[in-house]
Amino acid sequence: MSVAVAESQDDCIIEQLWDQYTQKDHDAWATLYRQTLATLPGRMCDEYLHGLSKLGLPPDRIVRFEELSDVLRKNTGWEYVAVSGFLPTKQFFSLLADRKFPANRSIRNLQELEYQELPDIFHDVVGHAPLLMDPIMADFMQEFGKAGMACDSESKHTMLARLYWFTVEVGLIQRNGSLKAYGTAIASSAKELEFALQSHSPNRLHFDLERIFRTPFSMYDLQETYFAIDALSQMLELANDGFSCVLKAPEPLPDIEQGRLVETDSVISAGDRSYHLAKLGSCV
Ligand SMILES: [Fe+2]
Repeated sequence: MSVAVAESQDDCIIEQLWDQYTQKDHDAWATLYRQTLATLPGRMCDEYLHGLSKLGLPPDRIVRFEELSDVLRKNTGWEYVAVSGFLPTKQFFSLLADRKFPANRSIRNLQELEYQELPDIFHDVVGHAPLLMDPIMADFMQEFGKAGMACDSESKHTMLARLYWFTVEVGLIQRNGSLKAYGTAIASSAKELEFALQSHSPNRLHFDLERIFRTPFSMYDLQETYFAIDALSQMLELANDGFSCVLKAPEPLPDIEQGRLVETDSVISAGDRSYHLAKLGSCV
């Protein structure tokens, strides 16, 4: 969520320069779109699929942010702005608080179709925009931005970042015994969609705010633990409460290594860690 230094929102916003995309870029979008859309039904939650359908994204070319923003504005008041790379934390929160979603304009290359370590336009649009069409998540994201602006310590920023990661990016939802995903990183990665929902490797736990605050994450790999909410209204409760769970929280207890389970965990399924153990083994 952070790196370079910029003083205001305007310093971060760039032009999408849609006319400069090459045919190869559009082909990468079309391939990703076709492959991803085939994997989502039955795996992503209904709210996401409904939002995706209402967006009417072009299947064969990269979307223009103006056309995307037109649809979002009419539905939930959000719009897209192009930014370069990761934003400074302050500007990221400031844009969200104004219902502006900062999106990368570049698209991954064809070698990274299944999983992309850094967010690209496909992740930022196909992952995030459907959730921004949902009234609950639209409000949640704005309130999240406001909470970030109000944060006054590094530890609270860390808590917010972990909350964002384990919900908006890699969140699962379990309703009537059926486990689906609403996380945007999962939606935009065929590899993580399969891994998060079907692999024996990761732990899947019921949503637990205190546990999430204590759980570090990796932006550059599949997760060892995923958390499942019962309904998107759980997110709204956090937002309606002004994220006091973060802003008024005492210092969190020590971190829990992500792959570990602890006594207080409410476990949906315990993982065998095979994916991450194999990776560790290959590094030795
Ligand atoms: Fe994202």
